[in-house]
Amino acid sequence: EVGMNAQDLGKLLHREPAEIVKKLFMLGVMTNQNQSLDKDAIELVAAEYNINAKEKVHEDISDIDTLYDKRMAASKKSKHQTKRPPVVTIMGHVDHGKTTLLDRLRHTHVSAHEAGGITQKIGAYQVRVDNKPITFLDTPGHAAFSNMRERGAEITDIVVLVVAADDGVMPQTVEAIDHAKSAKVPIIVAINKMDVPGANPEHVTEQLMKYNLIPENYGGDTIFVNISAKTGENVDELLQMILLQADVMELQADPTQKAIGTVIEARLSRGRGPVADLLVQQGTLKVGDPIVVGNRFGRVRVMTNDRGRQVEKATPSMPVEITGLNDVPESADKIVVFDDEKTARSVGEQRAQQALQQSRENVKHVTLDNLFDTM
Ligand code: GTP
Ligand code: MG
Repeated sequence: EVGMNAQDLGKLLHREPAEIVKKLFMLGVMTNQNQSLDKDAIELVAAEYNINAKEKVHEDISDIDTLYDKRMAASKKSKHQTKRPPVVTIMGHVDHGKTTLLDRLRHTHVSAHEAGGITQKIGAYQVRVDNKPITFLDTPGHAAFSNMRERGAEITDIVVLVVAADDGVMPQTVEAIDHAKSAKVPIIVAINKMDVPGANPEHVTEQLMKYNLIPENYGGDTIFVNISAKTGENVDELLQMILLQADVMELQADPTQKAIGTVIEARLSRGRGPVADLLVQQGTLKVGDPIVVGNRFGRVRVMTNDRGRQVEKATPSMPVEITGLNDVPESADKIVVFDDEKTARSVGEQRAQQALQQSRENVKHVTLDNLFDTM
């Protein structure tokens, strides 16, 4: 006996408990929804649904985060692993030149069109250097966007810390260092705005050494590059250093698996419905794939790359935008591809239901005494 009844088993197999009870009856087992089932009965029912109960009964497929972790672990052990592009997050204090650096790499002018010259969301782009792709995430430097910097650090391989040579280490510089360290991600320092009169890279280096970022010529192992995002000075050198660091890390993924990934940003588009920017981390995401994204579900309808071009599939480390979800997911939600749409829908609906129940529970516990603590 494993303490599981028809109701639990139904949940696990995404079937109505009544259907399970009926199935058991047909198999000669008399039970109701609440009665504990023995191992043989569970295996019998599972076999009816073509599931090997010994492996699967204890795997709850509605637990997306665990499923994501398992698929990640399986991919890392796979024989089909091949080299994947590095994911590089640009971080640093507000106005230190992160978006300008990316504009230079992409030959675009995003920073010129930002409201107030301030980045307010994570942007994801891919750049080719010597025909090797690098995925870049641009994060906001404004103090208000700490959670975005944290998320950026969590889904990246390398952090490029941009510090303006005329301004030095500032609060969000330190915060970025903390996020990178807690995510155990190596930092490459880019001292920017070298073209500005009064640029003092030595002073910035000294400041950074207090945070244990020590360049090689001081006996450390952190890569420092002095650049100007505006003139392009040493930007190629920075790219070469990123590729070198990525090579050392031997970043790999298995493109043959069903995809897993993470949502970067999501929104509701008036014409296209829910739209999600996401990063594919393992496997290959294809148009038509049934997916669960956080508490949402759907089928990849239209997939677009960072240049706005429609694509049929996205391989590991590729940032893409997708439509086809039933509702808007949240940033940092995990994406898991399922075998069929029916299962994806049932898992998504179950998760949405659970989330709703959870939020109701939370509301119930609000009293006049703690009302303001929860806001
Ligand atoms: P947030 O995203 O809001 O944190 O800012 P950011 O770090 O992306 O800075 P952004 O690239 O928007 O640049 C801020 C200002 O610095 C702009 O006016 C840029 O033109 C200027 N700037 C960026 N890099 C350089 C540089 O290398 N030299 C000079 N002189 N100016 C630069
Ligand atoms: Mg910016």
